[in-house]
Amino acid sequence: MEREPADLLITHVGRLITCAAADGPKRGAAQHEIEAIHDAAIAVGSGRILAVGLTEALDGRFAPARRIDAAGGLVTPGFVDPHTHACYAGDRADEFELRIAGATYQQIMAAGGGIMRTVRATRAASVEQLVAETRPRLDRMLAHGTTTVEIKTGYGLTTEDELKMLDALARLDAGHPISIVPTFLGAHAIPAEYRDNPDAYVDMVVDEMLPAVARWRDAHPGAPVPRFCDVFCETGAFSLEQSRRILERARELGFELKIHVDEFDPLGGTPLAVELGAVSADHLVATPSEHVALLARSATVAIALPGTPFGLGHYHFTPGRAIIDAGGALALATDCNPGTSVCESIPLMIALACRAMRITPAEALHAATINAAYGIGMGHEIGSLQPGKRADLLIHDVPSETHLAYRFGSNPVKMVIKDGRVVWERGALP
Ligand code: NIG
Ligand code: FE
Repeated sequence: MEREPADLLITHVGRLITCAAADGPKRGAAQHEIEAIHDAAIAVGSGRILAVGLTEALDGRFAPARRIDAAGGLVTPGFVDPHTHACYAGDRADEFELRIAGATYQQIMAAGGGIMRTVRATRAASVEQLVAETRPRLDRMLAHGTTTVEIKTGYGLTTEDELKMLDALARLDAGHPISIVPTFLGAHAIPAEYRDNPDAYVDMVVDEMLPAVARWRDAHPGAPVPRFCDVFCETGAFSLEQSRRILERARELGFELKIHVDEFDPLGGTPLAVELGAVSADHLVATPSEHVALLARSATVAIALPGTPFGLGHYHFTPGRAIIDAGGALALATDCNPGTSVCESIPLMIALACRAMRITPAEALHAATINAAYGIGMGHEIGSLQPGKRADLLIHDVPSETHLAYRFGSNPVKMVIKDGRVVWERGALP
């Protein structure tokens, strides 16, 4: 029998986790159910997965242009990081020193530091500078297995500077193996110039900025355009009513919705996310238990960001265990940003999540792959190793998903394959 052509055949995978889901994220008890194949192989053609099965079976079926021997390692889908603020200029290392000495994140923000500090640096930067400062973060993400990342605007906070951030994200996407999914976050902070009249800023976002972003989106069909509008619903940022106004207008303009809720104070953002049919509700640290139940019954994906409390030196985390136990779909993200979580590593998030939220390594792996993909509306394209999906996958030098969580602080990723091409490979260890 004639063998089928393939661009790539990866063989001798010790344990291949498909993270396959039928139609929607893995929720409730299903989030723990692992589908594993031993001595597995995966065939790739035209950047897509052709087949997943046993090495013996696929070896006989395909005639590949290239072969990779996984040497008994673990293979998973590429990680999807569904919530970051990774595009910014400057840093805030001195604020970290202040926080260690006892200042709170909110105190620093109220004093004009925090997000506004990064806004000033980002406004002052050219697109080229923004691209140059962001690219090394993408490199570190890729080395830790992230193959698709959501990146928010929100450090411009003028129409012109928010569009500059979208330009930077489009350039970064074009020049880097990682796929970028941009999100518009014009409502990230009340800029200093509107401090005495926050509602006037909300008016500006609704009347000027959102329509301008929608025009930019419609004028750039080939570029990665913002599909989502997000709002930081929090004391000192945007109230529940202000958040609702912005999100409702965004929905009218054809954006899907995401919301930062309950990071510090529970303002009622979780019920708002459910009511508006948001694709995700993110942070969920101070979420009351009745809101956890409401969220778990909804189609909105819960995105936990354990790097944020950890980065702030806090010991209170998203009730991830309760969300899954109530039947919800939990995803994980780094929140990579210069204030609360200066981290590009999904493996570290997996390790933190298992300990801080008492979720299992299997649940955490699904949270970082298929559920994260659904958290950015891309679950039909990425997040699992199923025929027809994009061939984004990782070869790890650990034997199982348990080891992904058991170890921390070192990188388990040995090789990153994106759209069927090897885009990163660890140098030989000394
Ligand atoms: O997700 N919550 C709002 N935004 C970020 C922090 C951004 C910053 O401090 O620059 C977060 O924690
Ligand atoms: Fe965030």
